[in-house]
Amino acid sequence: MIKFFAKGANFLLGKALQNKHTFIAGSLEYLHRKRAIDTNYFDYIRLSTLELISYEINKNNLKGNAAELGVYKGKFARYINKYFPDRSLYLFDTFEGFDNRDIASEKEQNFSAGSQDFSNTSVESVLQQMPFPEKCIPVKGFFPESAKKITDTFVFVSLDADLYEPIYSGLQFFYPKLAKGGHIFIHDFNNDNYKGARKAVEDFCAEQRIGFVPIPDFGGSAIITK
Ligand SMILES: C[S@@+](CC[C@H](N)C(=O)[O-])C[C@H]1O[C@@H](n2cnc3c(N)ncnc32)[C@H](O)[C@@H]1O
Repeated sequence: MIKFFAKGANFLLGKALQNKHTFIAGSLEYLHRKRAIDTNYFDYIRLSTLELISYEINKNNLKGNAAELGVYKGKFARYINKYFPDRSLYLFDTFEGFDNRDIASEKEQNFSAGSQDFSNTSVESVLQQMPFPEKCIPVKGFFPESAKKITDTFVFVSLDADLYEPIYSGLQFFYPKLAKGGHIFIHDFNNDNYKGARKAVEDFCAEQRIGFVPIPDFGGSAIITK
């Protein structure tokens, strides 16, 4: 009887939340291994997907490092660092917000206004967020110029730079360096406020004749694998 009422309450609450783009759904009910998911992070699907992917990469002992392009305050990067504790984590950002060259191109193509301000951060404050700061390699500056000397192999990359130019050049830079079995997350693929993110993925994947998987996380990420 209690179970019946609980199910009913869940159903009604679920219906009410749907109007707020929030869904109650079961997740991995039949998986028995313990998973460390920080429920304080605002995007369960994004974080949970990262955890599942890191599990496969680490279980299969893939060789390579991790990276994020578009770190800002390090809110997502700290979990990349947590789930890949034995790998170097490259942190690419101007740490001063969008670059005017990218904004100009963004406006010209009507993708977005590029007006969000991401300048209130610093390398030092980001490193303080990290569980394993000794594994982090901050690369401050305009990407892709900032990455010229880097020749590593990567197993996981998060592209969260919002605008067409850095996302497209991020795909050009990282995809050839991606290990077999590696993954690239591209944030904002299904975010209509940043239309360049989708276009960058579509252009790159069409040119390379490769596929991608859209996922229903908060920002509408897409994932490319090799
Ligand atoms: C949406 S924020 C990143 C959010 C972050 N991943 C998080 O989890 O909170 C976008 C970041 O991309 C950076 N960015 C955009 N274009 C860039 C470029 N060409 N070179 C370096 N950083 C860039 C901006 O400085 C900004 O910090």
